[in-house]
Amino acid sequence: MGVIAVQLEVMKDYAIKNKVPIVQQEAEDILINLVKQQNPQSILEIGTAIGYSTLVMAAHLPATSHITTIELNEERAEIARNFIQQAGAADRITLLCGDAGELLPQLSGSFDMVFIDAAKGQYPDYLAKIMDKLTKGACIVADNVFFRGMVINEAVDTPRRFRTIVKRLRGYLNTVTADPRFSTTLYKTEDGLAVSYFLEEKTDEAT
Ligand SMILES: C[S@@+](CC[C@H](N)C(=O)[O-])C[C@H]1O[C@@H](n2cnc3c(N)ncnc32)[C@H](O)[C@@H]1O
Repeated sequence: MGVIAVQLEVMKDYAIKNKVPIVQQEAEDILINLVKQQNPQSILEIGTAIGYSTLVMAAHLPATSHITTIELNEERAEIARNFIQQAGAADRITLLCGDAGELLPQLSGSFDMVFIDAAKGQYPDYLAKIMDKLTKGACIVADNVFFRGMVINEAVDTPRRFRTIVKRLRGYLNTVTADPRFSTTLYKTEDGLAVSYFLEEKTDEAT
């Protein structure tokens, strides 16, 4: 077992004990396959938590690839920083602590792959803010897009506190499935995963 693989087991235990939400098994498996197929050089992750999915991706990437990951919560970002350091992956990962909505417009460079796993109600905003940073053929992976079944099942009575999130996730799915610039597959994983390929050249136009 490699250093990162050992570290991932420790992180999984930490996440369970401390109730930190991390990517679930089916979504993790799809993410790993995509990383292997896509072989991305530059990856953006929105929602680091303790860095579990960050290191899952790092474990399957070529040593030349780089991950930029954003986490709002300072305590989690610090824990992620330590885990990444212990895994010996600090030189391949840039961790930014702050609100992705504010940090995304400040990012320079472009990305071959984006993993969106932060505030569910902000997915349309994140998408709009990464549009001008996507390389042709870039893969956007969005987790939890079914949001406990509320997004796809009209019959489920959505509690008032989740209505905005559900409406915005539906908006996100409408965009990536209807906009001809994307080719999207929805996976019925634990909580729904949307994998969208960006078919165009970089554009300044936000959705
Ligand atoms: C589901 S967890 C991420 C799990 C991680 N991707 C993994 O699988 O290991 C979502 C994270 O997004 C962070 N988050 C929520 N809103 C955010 C925002 N506006 N900007 C950056 N991070 C945010 C939360 O603090 C939380 O740690």
